[in-house]
Amino acid sequence: MKGIILAGGSGTRLRPLTGALSKQLLPVYDKPMIYYPLSVLMLAGIRDVLVISSRAHAELYEELLGDGSRLGIRIAYDEQPEPRGIADALVMGADFVGDDRVALILGDNIFHGPGFSAILRDSIERLDGCALFGYAVHDPQRYGVATVDASGRLLAIEEKPAAPRSRLAVTGLYLYDNDVLGIAKNLSPSARGELEITDVNLAYLAQGRARLTELGRGFAWLDMGTHDSLLQAGQYVQLLEQRQGEWVACVEEIALRMGFISADACLRLGEEMANSAYGKYLMEIASRHAVAPVG
Ligand code: G1P
Repeated sequence: MKGIILAGGSGTRLRPLTGALSKQLLPVYDKPMIYYPLSVLMLAGIRDVLVISSRAHAELYEELLGDGSRLGIRIAYDEQPEPRGIADALVMGADFVGDDRVALILGDNIFHGPGFSAILRDSIERLDGCALFGYAVHDPQRYGVATVDASGRLLAIEEKPAAPRSRLAVTGLYLYDNDVLGIAKNLSPSARGELEITDVNLAYLAQGRARLTELGRGFAWLDMGTHDSLLQAGQYVQLLEQRQGEWVACVEEIALRMGFISADACLRLGEEMANSAYGKYLMEIASRHAVAPVG
């Protein structure tokens, strides 16, 4: 399976933070925002990732992440001249995906919770059509809103409804089989001139091949569209890391635990950042005798 991170957009709701910087490079406590979605793809076992960003910021992503080899993965880049909707990532990424399946994730989404990698792997294994992830929120009208049956089959999905039928928001992580490339290619832009991801999901729904897994209580799904949500996400990560001494979305640690890099390589990455708590953490986990496998 291939992975695409959509890190485009102009981040207007976060001005002036995004006056010169891309939103998905902003700090979420101790690491750039894009580490969080990248960590999700890596936990899913994905080693080929395409980062789509705005033209103005593409070089910054390359400078940050390089070709991915330091993490034992491959990262490619593409530039979106202007925001054209989430589904445009599937049009832009068609050659990259080839005849494979694809996981698309929004660059400003954080997923964190017990057993998440197992949920991901299970969803990929059972993928037939499209797999979405839902999360109950208090303000569903801000999101795509799903209705599902008891078995997890998607019955309805509405984009930002004024009167939501459920509290289940569709999160920004989408798993698709290869049919998605054809579906995305044939989409027409919506009233706001964008290729809507909800229209892609509706196409699968019409075929009866869309499923949704609810991420339950105790799980955290955060999207960082406003100053408050950005700060809250940082505080959430800070709280967990300081309380447990385990880092959230530490991509080098995930690379080590997934077997993408060796302990020696992890140690060297830590040494390069030895002045920071992050670098010290990398050195510490690399030197532990037994590294717990991803559970
Ligand atoms: C987009 C999708 C929406 C989804 C949300 C998740 O909304 O259109 O269905 O629930 O991402 O973050 P946007 O963030 O573009 O308003």
